[in-house]
Amino acid sequence: MSDIQREQWGSRIGLILAVAGNAVGLGNFLRFPVQAASNGGGAFMIPYFIAFLLLGIPLMWIEWAIGRHGGKYGHSSAPGMFHVLWNHPVAKYIGAIGMVISTSILVYYTYIESWTLGYSIFSMIGLYWDVGSFKEMTNFLASYQGLTKTAHFSSLWPAYLLMVLTFVINFYVLWRGLSAGIEKLAKIAMPLLFIFAVILVVRVFTIDVPDPSHPENNVWAGLNYIWNPDFSLLSDAKVWLAAAGQIFFTLSVGMGTIHAYASYLRPKNDIALSGLTTAVTNESAEVILGGSIAIPAAVAFFGIPMTQAIASGGAFDLGFVSMPLIFTKIPMGQFFGALWFLLLFFAGITSSVAMAQPIIAFLKDEFGFTHRRATIVLGVLVLLLVQPVVLFFGHGFLNEMDYWAGTFGLVVFALLETIIFAWVFGIDNAWNEITSGADIKVPVIFKHIIKYITPAYLIIILAYWTITEAIPTLLLENAAAEDIPYLWGARLLMLGIFVVFILLVRKAFGKASIHTVSSAGE
Ligand code: ALA
Repeated sequence: MSDIQREQWGSRIGLILAVAGNAVGLGNFLRFPVQAASNGGGAFMIPYFIAFLLLGIPLMWIEWAIGRHGGKYGHSSAPGMFHVLWNHPVAKYIGAIGMVISTSILVYYTYIESWTLGYSIFSMIGLYWDVGSFKEMTNFLASYQGLTKTAHFSSLWPAYLLMVLTFVINFYVLWRGLSAGIEKLAKIAMPLLFIFAVILVVRVFTIDVPDPSHPENNVWAGLNYIWNPDFSLLSDAKVWLAAAGQIFFTLSVGMGTIHAYASYLRPKNDIALSGLTTAVTNESAEVILGGSIAIPAAVAFFGIPMTQAIASGGAFDLGFVSMPLIFTKIPMGQFFGALWFLLLFFAGITSSVAMAQPIIAFLKDEFGFTHRRATIVLGVLVLLLVQPVVLFFGHGFLNEMDYWAGTFGLVVFALLETIIFAWVFGIDNAWNEITSGADIKVPVIFKHIIKYITPAYLIIILAYWTITEAIPTLLLENAAAEDIPYLWGARLLMLGIFVVFILLVRKAFGKASIHTVSSAGE
């Protein structure tokens, strides 16, 4: 066990910005608009807000509480935290699942984040200004990703080097530590992100009618498209799953990252108000800002049928194809393009550093690594792991990891932690943890929600997802034959990460007794 002085947050606002930065990410600006637009528009917001109330907020509090509680015992990662909640040999291995999820997401998420850095540079220098059509812009992206060749990119090297640069920036922040690195980054990046987003929203709302021969294509039609409620879709279980999935991804719950940040609090620090503030900050960024940029702009320039096609092509097409095309068509487009991609970069990096933190903390707390050694070890590890993600992107390697870690895995981990916290640790202890030091009065109804509704909701989602999606995905029912070896590769990679963490947990906790004595105030 490490007797190294535990790190601490410099200020409460710094902590809140860091956790909000963890939550506000690419999901808010790219994933949310696509999900909303393709799942019933305004009607999507009903299951979305229900999921926010019954899953998002309870899980925020659960994770802050597990984190602060684990921190009292010197643990900033899930294995130790779960062990102090449940003194059973299996608890620490369940905690290891959280580390597998955050490591897997860290690997592919940071690669996507590197595209945003690249595209901010391409916007500034006007690299794609000669690209005129949707098809050409799709090719521009594909050639950047190494899937094809164009006059702009004939190899994967630019993407590769930007990926390395992005990892170096991430690990530089992590190297600086909690307060001087992560907190400082959040204090700079989060306000800038909001300023950039507001500027872009204002710009989008002043677009008017780009093509006078098609006056029906305008921003208001875009807003109408994203928010117009199609209530018939409410009876479709897929819409409810999509809404819950979006809540998980956007709030960064079920990843083990919020626990890590909360573990650096003191036992008497508030978590109830802080947890709620970060959740509400994330939702404002998502619903108000995230919903007002990419889709309304796409409708104004391309019309609804084309936007539908773009949205069904996924979050990448919206962010990296339609938006750049729009920038080439508006005055000062290079400036606004750079702003959009820097916004995404800031949103991404404040989330990716959070995914690394539990692993660095694990190596420090449970193996006595110095901060620098832990950072280097993780840095080298993720640089190795990202290789197949970059090289086999075209074969669905990234998507496969995103499905198992970033969609399915989050729900599995959230269910396990809710059961351990509310049922094994006990709802009375759990409630005391959440409310102790609270700066607000947490409505007591949440005690019942956390005990019954949240786990029941999670079980239903998981069961339905398993039957309708996970099993067909596992059986590769819709996979192209040539991709199958790569999809198995992605699975084996994640399985490998899992085995390594299981062995590490066993080694760390086998050789000495786990900290179960509070070290608070040491
Ligand atoms: N919560 C982060 C996002 O929305 C992971 O991108």
